[in-house]
Order: sequence, then structure tokens, then C-alpha cells
Amino acid sequence: MKFNFLGNTGLVVSELCFGTMTFGGKGYWEAIGTAQQQEVNDLMKVVVDSGINFIDTANVYSFGESEKLLGQSILDLGLNRNNLVIATKVRGRMGEGVNDMGLSRYHIFQSVDASLQRLQVDHIDILYVHGIDPKTSVEETVRALNDVVQSGKARYIAICNWPAWIVMKAIAITEKHGWNKFMGLQYFYSLASRDIERELLPLAHDQNIGVMPWSPLAGGFLGGKYGRNAGNAAGSRRDTFDFPPINKEKTYDIIDVATEVGKQHGVSIAEVSLAWVRQQKGVTSTIIGAKSIDQLNANIKSTELVLSADDLKKLDEVSALAREYPGWMVERQSADREIKS
Ligand SMILES: NC(=O)c1ccc[n+]([C@@H]2O[C@H](COP(=O)([O-])OP(=O)(O)OC[C@H]3O[C@@H](n4cnc5c(N)ncnc54)[C@H](OP(=O)(O)O)[C@@H]3O)[C@@H](O)[C@H]2O)c1
Repeated sequence: MKFNFLGNTGLVVSELCFGTMTFGGKGYWEAIGTAQQQEVNDLMKVVVDSGINFIDTANVYSFGESEKLLGQSILDLGLNRNNLVIATKVRGRMGEGVNDMGLSRYHIFQSVDASLQRLQVDHIDILYVHGIDPKTSVEETVRALNDVVQSGKARYIAICNWPAWIVMKAIAITEKHGWNKFMGLQYFYSLASRDIERELLPLAHDQNIGVMPWSPLAGGFLGGKYGRNAGNAAGSRRDTFDFPPINKEKTYDIIDVATEVGKQHGVSIAEVSLAWVRQQKGVTSTIIGAKSIDQLNANIKSTELVLSADDLKKLDEVSALAREYPGWMVERQSADREIKS
């Protein structure tokens, strides 16, 4: 397992991060995964034995069950919590009360305390905001996050799913007040969805912030069970929980090319897809998901696959984003500023 510094910090994380959205199987999350304690412990054992030190959960995954199962697995396996980088999130609804969700100061503080209890730890390494809260000012949220870090309950703060302009607004607020910086962005990024290349990857590069792609297999669509002429994918998550949204017709073309590339290396399309994400510029740690030990092992093994320049070119061509304004103008005007020899 290789390691990278996370953004502008001295924190070192494995190039794969293990996502625990499949733990718990409660309510809405049942379609994603139903792993209970023994299975969770088995998965976590493989994770730590592989050298992965980075674990991703959220308060809302199975309404707290994912955090509970993760925390208990650390105790059951006798792991040293200080060898792990534990990330969790805040924003989603955690109760019936009017203040049981969002990014208000009130809910952020309450949610952090509840996460610490469920995880059975005394601090969170990375606290992400899980998405936007259109009713709370960015300043209120950023101040609360800064105060959580000051309290010692979280070590670092990071962002998921905010539009680029809100990320930059939040960064400007931290700079204006001398508050804690954001060090990471967690966004959907896969061969089937390269939207973050428009604004967020350039932003991360400019601001020296780490990037943690989620759903690198597009929720399983790039797992080998789907394709233009594929058979039945019953039992797969996408079969009942068709998320995240992608252009399926375009993705069938991507699957054809990734399958071809995989054949040349003797690996699965899942491994090609994960290697592609890992090899993209600016990616710090790819957040993998797995419903079984076999899937987990295959995903870990993908770190051994190095796609050639030719492989990357083929995959890039078939998955490229449609040109969009002002992107095409930026491209034109950047070329205009190249010094001709
Ligand atoms: N911040 C956010 O908003 C956000 C959103 C989503 C996820 N996340 C994080 O990202 C993590 C990963 O997301 P994800 O689970 O959607 O990732 P993903 O890699 O896109 O999808 C994982 C699913 O693909 C299938 N799969 C996994 N490995 C496979 C393999 N080797 N071969 C074939 N199929 C395979 C499994 O489902 P099937 O077998 O059922 O097909 C598995 O549950 C989550 O656990 C969570 O921590 C964050």
C-alpha cells in the first residue's frame, strides 16, 4: 500500500480509503449493504492487514449503525486507534426534531458528540460536511467547524458535495478570520462521472487540498455486472438502488473499453476502473466500497495495476466530458498564452 500526504497537512493516508456505507443495513441503507458485527470485523481485518489506514463513515450511514459497528470492530480486533485515520460526516437527518439535521452550529456540535459516542473514540480525525445546508450561512457553519477543531473533538475539517463557489467562499472566510483550513474534498469521481474535473479538481490543485473520490465504481455499475448486453444483475446494489446518477448509454461504451484494457492486463473491469481513479492527477485516496471479502481483496489488488499511457488515453477518450462554456474558452485562452519556441 502506498501513502500520500493529505492536501496542505502533514497527515499521511493510504492511497485507498475504506468506505463503510455497507455496514448496518438499516432503513434506506438496507439496499446498499447489511454487514453486521462479525462481517464488519472480518472486512476490517483485511483492511488493516492490507496497510489501509484511512476509514470513511458518516453519522447517517444506517442512522449511526455504521459508526457503531466500526467503533466496535476497532475494539474487537484490538486495533490501535492511533494507527487509523477515522473520518465521519455531519449534515443528514439523525432524528425527528427540527434541529436534528443540517449545518447549524447547534446540530454540528450535537452530531459530533453523538458520533464520538457511537465510534467509542475521543476524537474524529477528519470531520466532513456531507453536503450543503441552504438555510444556514456558510459563516455559521465554518465558525462551528473551527470551534469543533479548537475543542479537540475533530482534528481536521473537509467538504463533500459542495459546489466549487461555496467551497471557495468557505476558504475565504477561514482566511479572513484565521480559522482552521479545509484540507480535503470528497466527491463522486469515476470513469462514469468526471464532472469534478471542470471546477473542483482545479480548485483543489490551486488551494493544495486533498481529493477523496467516492463511488469509484459508480455504485457498482463498473463492477462487471452491467453492460449493454449484460445479463441479470439481481442482488447488486444498482438493481434496487440506482445511485449515483450517470449517463448509462455513455457508460456502456466506457465499459467496453475498460473490459478490453482489463483483458490485456488479465484483470477485472473493477480493477481497471479503480486504477484509473487512483492514477488521476490530484487524487489523494480513493474511497472503496465492498460487500464481500472477495470484492475487498480485488479492490485492494487494484493498487498493483498501473495503467499505461496508452490505456489511459483510450479510457480518457471514451469517458471525456462534453466541452462546456467557459471551459472551452479557458482552454482556448490558455493555449493563447503558451510561449511558442
Ligand atoms: N460523501 C458522499 O456523499 C458519499 C456518497 C457515497 C459514498 N461515499 C463513500 O464512498 C464509499 C464508497 O462508495 P460506493 O460504495 O458507492 O463505492 P463503489 O465502488 O462505487 O461501489 C461499491 C459497490 O460496488 C460493488 N463492488 C465493489 N467492489 C467490487 C468488485 N471488486 N467487483 C464487482 N463489484 C464490486 C458492490 O456492490 P454490488 O456487489 O451490489 O454491485 C459495492 O457495494 C462509501 O462506503 C462511503 O464511505 C460518500
